Amino acid sequence: RRGGPVPTDLAGRHVVISAGGTREPLDPVRFLGNRSSGKQGYALAVTAAARGARVTLLSANAELPDPAGVDVVHVSTALELREAALKAAEDADAVVMAAAVADFRPAEYATGKIKKVEGVEPAPVALVRNPDVLAELSAHRPRSGQLVVGFAAETDDVLANGRAKLARKGCDLLVVNEVGNGKAFGQDVNEAVVLGSDGSETPVPVGPKEALADVVWDLVAKRWEPGRN
Ligand code: CTP
Ligand code: CA
Repeated sequence: RRGGPVPTDLAGRHVVISAGGTREPLDPVRFLGNRSSGKQGYALAVTAAARGARVTLLSANAELPDPAGVDVVHVSTALELREAALKAAEDADAVVMAAAVADFRPAEYATGKIKKVEGVEPAPVALVRNPDVLAELSAHRPRSGQLVVGFAAETDDVLANGRAKLARKGCDLLVVNEVGNGKAFGQDVNEAVVLGSDGSETPVPVGPKEALADVVWDLVAKRWEPGRN
């Protein structure tokens, strides 16, 4: 937003945002993780707070300072994120799942550091599925009119994959961006298309993550008050 006052169109609303990437421990010193920086989720939190919302940010291992005026809950694993998200969603008007949630976690956690043994090949790491937090939030809405927004990073057939994912998850909006070739992960800019469960398609040109965040809040605010726009 260039020039002019920041609108306080989210005043009186409580929004919950997950950010970063979960870590799934193998032992006390090792984990399976991903490259999500948390920047998009933090941009969503900062822009929502600037527009007057009460913001709860569920931060999974993002190495970023807590934004001012935002309630930050630090989590690490997908199971911890699920618990924090279900709790925070109880009185939320919107939940945005920008975090990269690990699809799998090690089936077993070694309470002591895994040691190598001379002449013995390492055992393969068995994995189990993590719960799908976004699908769960979408299916179970504790507050009427609550909106649920997902993010998806796709490498090919971006739009077709995005449409199928939106339907599968049952969320209201899905922000789809193309990744690979240095795009999105860890970058300060993002380019995306926001798909709506109503069939809408909102392209967002390449730009700062705050600009994409503002488009998400515009679309959310419009759905809270369908009379407008
Ligand atoms: N998500 C979630 N819980 C999971 C996995 C993903 O809540 N266990 C959320 C992410 O936060 C994101 C959305 O679902 O908002 C889409 O994540 P993505 O990894 O693209 O979807 P998946 O269903 O895991 O599909 P894929 O097999 O392509 O990874
Ligand atoms: Ca996934």
